Amino acid sequence: METCMTDHAPPRADDATPTLPVTLHVCLTCRIPGAEPEAEGAPRAGRLLHDALAAAMADDPAVRVVGVECLSNCSRGCTVALSGAGRWTYVVGALDPAVSPEAVRDGALRYAAAPDGLVPWRERPEAFRKGVVARVPAL
Ligand code: FES
Repeated sequence: METCMTDHAPPRADDATPTLPVTLHVCLTCRIPGAEPEAEGAPRAGRLLHDALAAAMADDPAVRVVGVECLSNCSRGCTVALSGAGRWTYVVGALDPAVSPEAVRDGALRYAAAPDGLVPWRERPEAFRKGVVARVPAL
């Protein structure tokens, strides 16, 4: 759980539109901790989350949805990561494909709208406030 509860975001330029899309990596191999294993051949929870997000965000050019195998947050799946040039990177876990896609979409669009990737804590969807695992500064 993220322990820093303060807003670190500097003032944003009005209507700043990023010129490069941000990337939402979605772990395809995550399972929900404590859940029964999926039936043989059935998709894992991470795959379900990825597919739901890819469909929900197909018309959102500011965010690319990219599947990836393991983001090293396996005990707190499902997990996604948001990154982009010149932005902080966020890893967010404890997402449930049955309830989280709209919250992840909302968080990703807010992230894409923030030039440095810093979305004020109060403006983040609850799933992001509770599920942030790490944030990493831009290079
Ligand atoms: S399997 Fe998803 S983070 Fe490792």
